[in-house]
Amino acid sequence: MSLTANLYPLLKPWLFRMDAERAHEWTTRMMRFSHSLGLLTVGQEVLPQKPVECLGLRFPNALGLAAGMDKSASAVEAWAALGFGFVEVGTLTPRPQPGNPKPRLFRLPEHDALINRMGFNNPGIHSAVKRLKKRRTQAVVGVNIGKNFDTPNEEAVNDYLLGLRAAYEVADYIAVNISSPNTKGLRDLQAEESIRSLLGALKVEQAKLAKEQGQMKPVLVKIAPDLDGQQIEALARVFNELAVDGVIATNTTISRVAVAGHPLEKEAGGLSGAPVKERSTDVIQAFRMLLKESTPIIGVGGILSGADAAEKMKAGAQLVQVYSGLVFRGPGLVQDVLRTIGA
Ligand SMILES: Cc1cc2nc3c(=O)[nH]c(=O)nc-3n(C[C@H](O)[C@H](O)[C@H](O)COP(=O)(O)O)c2cc1C
Repeated sequence: MSLTANLYPLLKPWLFRMDAERAHEWTTRMMRFSHSLGLLTVGQEVLPQKPVECLGLRFPNALGLAAGMDKSASAVEAWAALGFGFVEVGTLTPRPQPGNPKPRLFRLPEHDALINRMGFNNPGIHSAVKRLKKRRTQAVVGVNIGKNFDTPNEEAVNDYLLGLRAAYEVADYIAVNISSPNTKGLRDLQAEESIRSLLGALKVEQAKLAKEQGQMKPVLVKIAPDLDGQQIEALARVFNELAVDGVIATNTTISRVAVAGHPLEKEAGGLSGAPVKERSTDVIQAFRMLLKESTPIIGVGGILSGADAAEKMKAGAQLVQVYSGLVFRGPGLVQDVLRTIGA
């Protein structure tokens, strides 16, 4: 176990007494600082690195940091030092925006779960791109793009096109987020005609950028867990038709069934962590059966152990990501997952 993984169980009770968002900010600052002193890897044994060839990229390993943890691309090198093979930054919108009023992030430790209604607080895509131009890491970096809260859905395509153009040069892949429950109407973009027209425009732009810059960068779509069978079939049809490069399944859920009776149950936002695990795995399995074999899936939702990650891969994911599990298990989770899926 590394020093950081050993320290986390000692720090956790103190962090959990702090407001959740403050604890997140404090941890990110500490991580950056520790990394600058070379402390993040102290005592870390060589972890199994089973590289994965996927999306035309070489991932040092199959474990990634999910979007939302590093919205501003401020600590990419530090995440890589913890052992992540890839880091998805964002969601980034064209203009900076503050997000929803605080408090907007809640812990439900009894369920190993979080509820968040952050609302895409971020410094804007251009600021993140500037940072990423200076990045020094072997890890693959995905840039997750979204629309500003005040851009109507009819004009959303312009925000996504701007995000794609801005991110193209610095990203290894681009993730199109149409599944956050915290931007009003965003998930309506998952409706068949809306998604066909949005992705159609993005695929045309992707081809143009690939020609101009001499490199094809994959464009993936991140979807919600709250889709019924018909919606899943419709989305898979569009993804196959338009040759979408990959699917990220899933975002947070609006369902509260798994946390019914909890005092925070009624807080608005997306629920993540253990309660979304099964649903996310079911959605991965459904897409795996419907998508072209060559279209990879990144599995995310409720991974709290190496066994959970292996389950996502068994369901059809080529790569996996974590967010909430890191809050509840700390950096030891990275080591647990890498030992399990790298074995
Ligand atoms: C506080 C918080 C903020 C998030 N922000 C984003 C975001 O900006 N963009 C996005 O695509 N997903 C976001 N997510 C969703 C995660 O990337 C992930 O899909 C989801 O939490 C399920 O994984 P988990 O159970 O491992 O947390 C966020 C999740 C949390 C908990």
